[in-house]
Amino acid sequence: MPSEVADSNRRRFLTAATVVVGAVGSVAVAVPFLKSWNPSARARSAGAPVKADISKLEMGRQIIFKWQGKPVWVVRRDQEALATLSSVVDKLRDVDSEESIQPDYTKNKHRSIKQEYLVMVGICTHLGCSPSYRPEITADFMGGFFCPCHGSKFDFAGRVYTGVPAPTNLTVPPHYYINDGLILIGEDGVA
Ligand code: FES
Repeated sequence: MPSEVADSNRRRFLTAATVVVGAVGSVAVAVPFLKSWNPSARARSAGAPVKADISKLEMGRQIIFKWQGKPVWVVRRDQEALATLSSVVDKLRDVDSEESIQPDYTKNKHRSIKQEYLVMVGICTHLGCSPSYRPEITADFMGGFFCPCHGSKFDFAGRVYTGVPAPTNLTVPPHYYINDGLILIGEDGVA
């Protein structure tokens, strides 16, 4: 092949290759642009209330939802767990939740709307770790939640024990029951 023809073919190939790479580059740039294009819609959806389907939650079990980027637990407490709420009161720092955060309609011994269901933000009030659910009732710990980061303990209503670093009870988020199997987390019900 004459060298001029070969050079011409080579130029055409390089031009085509440049166009393809450029197109790929444009797509790669366009995606983040579209993602960041509508931040207010994303912010609205991140803070929006969340529907929590608890219709299949078995007795004694915990289910975790996400609201505002935080874990929210729903725990279905059996009679044994509910009975411990009275027996641990002398070990708790804020028994009546006077210094803790919860809606008024959950400022009671169970810290809930319905005795059986606890709805709680799963973030330790010490430094923000997520405690683990400890349903077992033993001589050492009457069950509830344990934060492994610095050893804070909470009862089955999220009330903090004395002698641990967490200063207050776990937080109850605003919520209400749409029906028996569905909770809306993040919004107060109509009074
Ligand atoms: S973060 Fe839970 S005990 Fe420190």
